[in-house]
Amino acid sequence: MTTTEHTTPSPSAVDSGASASASFRAGSASGFGSAGSSTARVDTLARAVLAAVHGVIREHKVTYPEFQAAKKWLMDLGDGGEWPLFLDVFVEHAVEEVAAETQAGTTGTILGPYYLPDQVRLPAVAALPARPDEPGSSWLFQGQVRDLDGNPLAGAELDVWQNSADGFYSGFAPHLPEGNLRGVVVTDEQGRFAISTILPAPYQVPTDGPTGELIEAAGWHPWRPAHLHLLVRADGHRTITTQLYFTGAQYIDDDVARATKPELILDPQQLADGSFRSEYDFVLEPV
Ligand SMILES: [Fe+2]
Repeated sequence: MTTTEHTTPSPSAVDSGASASASFRAGSASGFGSAGSSTARVDTLARAVLAAVHGVIREHKVTYPEFQAAKKWLMDLGDGGEWPLFLDVFVEHAVEEVAAETQAGTTGTILGPYYLPDQVRLPAVAALPARPDEPGSSWLFQGQVRDLDGNPLAGAELDVWQNSADGFYSGFAPHLPEGNLRGVVVTDEQGRFAISTILPAPYQVPTDGPTGELIEAAGWHPWRPAHLHLLVRADGHRTITTQLYFTGAQYIDDDVARATKPELILDPQQLADGSFRSEYDFVLEPV
C-alpha cells in the first residue's frame, strides 16, 4: 500500500492531556487497594521503583540542577493532566508484555490514552460514524471473531476507535464531532463483521505540553504509526485490547510508544476505485 503523508496537527494538544486525565479518572477506581495488591506487594514494588531511581542517579551522577529540573517537569506533567499520556506512551507497553505472557488468542498491545466507552452500537456490517466530508482513503475492514477451538462467536463486540486524517481523535480535539470514527460493531451469527471507515493516519503525541518538552529535550520524535484501536470482547471470554498497523507505513519500525508487533501488521489491498480492503480474524480465549 502507499503510505499517507503525515500532516502537522494545528489544534492545541493541551486539551488532549486534560481530556485523557478526565476520561481515566472517570473509568478507574482509586487507591492502591483497588489493584488488589497486599501491603507486602506494595512495599516490594515501591522499594523497587525507588531503588531503580536511586540507581539512575548514582550511575549517571545526576546533579542538583538536574534533580530540580526533573522535579519541576514532574509537577508540570501533573498540572497539565499528562500523566495518562506519558505513562501510556512510555510505560504501558512493558505492562502489556507482562500481561501477554499468560494470554492466548489474538496478540494484544497497549490501550493508549484515547479510548472512550459507551460509543454507538452498530450491526455487523456498518460504517463508523464520520463527517459527511470525512477526508481520507476509504477502507473496508472485515473478518471473523472465533474462540480458541475455531467456533465463530456471534454477538461479539469490536469496540473500535481511530483518528481522522489530520491525526486527531474525537473527544480529544475540539474540531471533531463527538463519536467521530468510534463505534461498537457486533458480529453476526457467523461471528463476522465488515467495517467501512477510512485508513487511520500517523500522529504525534501532544508536543505542546510537558511530554513534548521531554521528547524535544531528549531529541526523540513524537510519532506513532497509523493504527486502528480495538477492544474485542464476547461473553465468557477474555477481552482483547489491541491495535492493527499497516505494512510499510511511516514510523512502523520506530513507534514512540513501542507498541507495534509483527503479527498486528495488515497489508491492505488497494482496489481499482482507489479504496483499500483488509481481512483480520480475532481469536478469544475463555475466562
Ligand atoms: Fe492511537
